[in-house]
Amino acid sequence: MIYPRIIGTGSCLPERILTNEVLARDLDTSDDWIRERTGIRRRHLVADDQTTVDLAEGAARNALAAAGVEASTLDLIVVGTATPDRIYPSTACRLQARIGAMGCTAFDVQAVCTGFIYALGVAEKFVRAKSAKRVLVVGADTHSRLLDWSDRSTCVLFGDGAGAVVLEASSTPGVLSTHLHADGSGESLLYVEGGTPHGKVAIEGPPDAKAPAGKARTMMKGKEVFRFAVRALGRIVEETLSANGIDQSRIDWLIPHQANIRIIEATTRQLGISMDKVIVTVGEHGNTSAASVPLALDTAVRDGRIEPGQMLLLEAFGGGFTWGSALVRY
Ligand code: UT7
Repeated sequence: MIYPRIIGTGSCLPERILTNEVLARDLDTSDDWIRERTGIRRRHLVADDQTTVDLAEGAARNALAAAGVEASTLDLIVVGTATPDRIYPSTACRLQARIGAMGCTAFDVQAVCTGFIYALGVAEKFVRAKSAKRVLVVGADTHSRLLDWSDRSTCVLFGDGAGAVVLEASSTPGVLSTHLHADGSGESLLYVEGGTPHGKVAIEGPPDAKAPAGKARTMMKGKEVFRFAVRALGRIVEETLSANGIDQSRIDWLIPHQANIRIIEATTRQLGISMDKVIVTVGEHGNTSAASVPLALDTAVRDGRIEPGQMLLLEAFGGGFTWGSALVRY
């Protein structure tokens, strides 16, 4: 049996930090409200001249260095992102040129906050099918570019960042299974206007939009998304455990999507998983979309909480709706 094994992790956060207190200076919100309702204390934001590929490159270089391998030895690059620098070429192709991995397969997957898990699932299949031996999987987003900074119900939630792993084909267990789902009927609850009908980038915001004309912005019905997320994440964890014939006592670390501490707590309560076994970075990063799970993974690998041989359960939920999970022997 061939498994994709994680041989290196990396991440990248932009330098600029925006705290709740600073946000509350210009917005009808407060540090107390944001912390109590979401668990978020601060988030990192890109500089004006930084884009998604800059963060992806930082995370990729850190993951390659941790793995001790050269970019030129990669067979495949998969980037999960909903905020590509351009309509095309893909972020993966731009990243490939930056790190010098020319010739290998490279493409993006778009599953919003589930982007990294989807990318990992695709990479897993390439390795199992013997189509790739060494793969770079990245989750990178600059969601701050999709925010209406006058909409307190969305702009306080998101941050920018990137996380990456290098996978290598191995006979020793690594990624044991991935589980990917979508329900396209949830579109009206979470979406960003914008597309290329008639050859023009078109953004048709609602008439009451306070954001400047043509500005792409995240539209979300938070309460409904919250409810759907808790149900979907509970189900995906159960599906993953049952597919592998194990129960939650075998999980050393749950690495959930970092959207809201209350979603994480509701999911773990429902599943009977202790919060001591959960990696939580939402306080420092906010919701970094596709970057959230690999950023949390890299944080806990680097601070020594995650050790070789441990069993990890990664899960995420995002626009689409999409949701997914991965069971990983680290
Ligand atoms: O990555 C996946 C996608 N996103 C998510 O997973 C997000 C899921 N949803 C959530 O995390 C939560 O629903 C939110 C954090 C977005 C909102 O929390 P909530 O507890 O569901 O609050 P709510 O939307 O019911 O709003 C409660 C009140 C409202 O005021 P009224 O109508 O009760 O007077 C809001 O206007 O809180 C108000 N409010 C705020 N107040 C201060 C909403 N945003 C803010 C804010 N500061 N930033």
